[in-house]
Amino acid sequence: MLGCRLCGGLVDELLDLGRQPLANSFPRPDQTTDEFFYRLAMGACRDCSMMQLLEEVPRDLKYHDGYPYRASGSATHRDHFTSVATNFLARELSTKDAFVVEIGCNDGVMLARIAKAGVRHLGVEPAGGVAELAAAKGIDVLREFFEEETAVRIRSTHGPADVIFAANTICHIPYADSLMRGVAALLKPGGIFVFEEPYLGTVINGMAFDQLYDEHFYFFTVRSVQSMARRFGFELIDAEPTPLHGGSMRYTLALPGQRARTANVRSLLAQEEELTKPDTYRRFRSAVERIRHDLVGLLEQLKQDGRTVVGYGAPGKVTTVTNYCGIGPDLVPYVCDSTPSKQHRLVPGTHIPVRPPDAFRDPYPDYALLFAWNHADEIIAKEQAFLEAGGSWILYVPEVRVVRHVPAGR
Ligand code: SAH
Ligand code: TYD
Ligand code: ZN
Repeated sequence: MLGCRLCGGLVDELLDLGRQPLANSFPRPDQTTDEFFYRLAMGACRDCSMMQLLEEVPRDLKYHDGYPYRASGSATHRDHFTSVATNFLARELSTKDAFVVEIGCNDGVMLARIAKAGVRHLGVEPAGGVAELAAAKGIDVLREFFEEETAVRIRSTHGPADVIFAANTICHIPYADSLMRGVAALLKPGGIFVFEEPYLGTVINGMAFDQLYDEHFYFFTVRSVQSMARRFGFELIDAEPTPLHGGSMRYTLALPGQRARTANVRSLLAQEEELTKPDTYRRFRSAVERIRHDLVGLLEQLKQDGRTVVGYGAPGKVTTVTNYCGIGPDLVPYVCDSTPSKQHRLVPGTHIPVRPPDAFRDPYPDYALLFAWNHADEIIAKEQAFLEAGGSWILYVPEVRVVRHVPAGR
């Protein structure tokens, strides 16, 4: 039995998705011989309740100059983060000389609005390619990993922060002790640390097992964030569901006694009791096995019937689902994705080629397997001509199903 990365407590293994390559490592066709594999399995700590991966992949293998994820890649993300920025500008950042730090600013999807407003800010982003995109938007970026030492240095050069923000990044940081000590060193006494991350409840209730991959080291619940906050001298003052990635949670931490606690925390804690029962995990495990069985069965049947299938979107999730299910180019000959840095490369491990979106129309396949299912509304609306041409979407969470018509109400 392994020790919790956060508190050293005992961790019970709950799901094993086998050996997997790095989710965002999209190799070129000539780079497939030296892919890095690790065991993708998760478990929960008996003491602090934190859900975590059982094997940690070194961070330099993931967040380097070639890291391909672009936060601005969808209208949904752009709109969401512009509104996050606008809200900060109207409240916490409305005072003279206010200062905000974003951990994992990626291509600057959130900070662009802050920079435009002329407010003091700093993005901390170790991946060179995306950091450059942020800098080109006029954003101040520090190309480093955020940890205690970085935070202390930022404070001594810029002063304390009114807001420290992160989205889909805190769950990427196994060294939560150094991170939290850094936050404590950098935050103003009356400031807030706000982070929004994939929610364990969404993963479990939505059977979104493909949210598990090397980068998502922790799966937070309100309970585990509360225990993490206390451990490092903070108080969880708010938790609020947000829509990205199929349903995330935004947590707000402050120093004890500095801010009033909202009623949300208590009601969400009560809802989570069911979520973390052994029976719930057992049902999740069987549902995941069922998805693999049904999806592979459907793809094999379609192949036998001579129907064409193409993948749509190459998010990190595509790596988990195709490697876990053993889906290669024989069943899905290619996937289309709008991210230039993924195109003309291969899905890690299963080596399905990634092509630009134009390939989707040329000609339309009979079926499109939607790997970017968290963007289903945006994509299905955008590709309406595909359905009109007789095409069908295949979705696989929370269960495998075929969608032939634009859902009612659209
Ligand atoms: N905030 C964006 C990007 C999330 S991807 C969004 O919500 O879409 C996670 C980002 O965190 C990556 O760009 C990665 O390079 C960065 N990252 C990983 N570890 C980090 C660390 N220790 N400090 C700062 N950024 C980190
Ligand atoms: P996303 O779910 O945002 O990221 P993650 O890797 O964290 O799961 O990724 C969505 C992917 O889908 C991204 O590679 C871009 C792609 N995409 C398209 O190809 N077309 C689209 O219309 C949209 C919205 C996304
Ligand atoms: Zn623990």
